[in-house]
Amino acid sequence: MSALSIRNVRKTYHHGPDILKGIDIEIDDGQFLILVGPSGCGKSTLLNMIAGLESISSGDILIGDTRVNTLAPKDRDIAMVFQSYALYPSMSVRKNISFGLEIRKRPKAEIEATVARVADILQLGSLLDRKPAQLSGGQRQRVAMGRALARNPAIFLFDEPLSNLDAKLRVEMRLEIKQMHQRLGATIVYVTHDQIEAMTMGDRIAVMRDGVVQQFGAPQEIYDTPANLFVAAFMGSPGMNFIPVELAEASGGLTCRVQPKGQPAAVWTLPRRSSDLGAWLGRTVLLGVRPEQITDRRTAHRADLPELIAEVDLTEPTGADTLVSIQLNDTKTCCRVHPGEAAVPGQPMPFIVDLSKSLLFDRDSGRRIA
Ligand SMILES: Nc1ncnc2c1ncn2[C@@H]1O[C@H](COP(=O)(O)OP(=O)(O)OP(=O)(O)O)[C@@H](O)[C@H]1O
Ligand SMILES: [Mg+2]
Repeated sequence: MSALSIRNVRKTYHHGPDILKGIDIEIDDGQFLILVGPSGCGKSTLLNMIAGLESISSGDILIGDTRVNTLAPKDRDIAMVFQSYALYPSMSVRKNISFGLEIRKRPKAEIEATVARVADILQLGSLLDRKPAQLSGGQRQRVAMGRALARNPAIFLFDEPLSNLDAKLRVEMRLEIKQMHQRLGATIVYVTHDQIEAMTMGDRIAVMRDGVVQQFGAPQEIYDTPANLFVAAFMGSPGMNFIPVELAEASGGLTCRVQPKGQPAAVWTLPRRSSDLGAWLGRTVLLGVRPEQITDRRTAHRADLPELIAEVDLTEPTGADTLVSIQLNDTKTCCRVHPGEAAVPGQPMPFIVDLSKSLLFDRDSGRRIA
């Protein structure tokens, strides 16, 4: 049984434009769904509709096999964790966690057992008697999660819960939420505009833009075979390179010519993933290549891949590796190389190009064609 089904859901405010334009998403029990996309694409609106905080203009939302369209939030068996933790400032951590159970008049023994269980999962044991003001941001976030956990809902809903935290704490909490998911097997819907959070935490990702799901799938599937230019550019950091190339055919293979600035041109043989590219021969398409697929000899350690000499425009050391910008067919192209191998700007250096995962996109529609 699906834990959550979103079927052709639309949202319109007062005869304005459609904010959500027919969303279809289905996840199984225990899955971690990420809603990701740029600001204003409708992520929070969709989450709030699942929670019952926003009405549904048309379509259906099912939690388990219950259609919840008109159910009040409290009757939906969900718990929500917001960006602002919304803890009760005058209550202790213990009380913040147990309060929801107390107003539901749960037996005292059950409440105590629940607080102990939640404190154990989130390592809050030593903080139970403190007030929110005596906690760090990350600890407050954990208490907010603890309050949701205490309810033991069918689905946890998170709306950008980490965006108020500093970079280091974000990474820690990211792991913590992921671990919590693994330990509990909870079903989670998690909103973020951060594609790294999306890639690392989720096991299903819906990439949204302008109220439309551009692609719904597993993280690696979305990274390796993005449906269109938008998804390809949005997921991955730095983003995929898009090099305009003219497709040609030579001895049964698909090829394209790539001209690095100030160096001899190279002819690349492309993987033939689609048999139906005949119509594209002689036309300009965008060749999608990720930065890690254009690297140096030391990193590539493979002898069978084509080499390309190109002049370095700019280098950006990240520590673990260095991002090198070059120009291919007059287009800025980012390559990821070993820090010890990057040439200085203005100098040529050899690159090894792995085209086995390269993709082709239609320039006009943005659709992936191979
Ligand atoms: N009450 C409202 N009336 C009219 N339009 C609204 C209302 N609430 C939200 N919107 C619009 O709906 C769109 C989606 O908003 P939403 O908050 O869902 O975006 P989001 O993806 O969560 O963005 P962010 O990443 O900035 O939080 C936006 O264009 C927003 O302006
Ligand atoms: Mg939002």
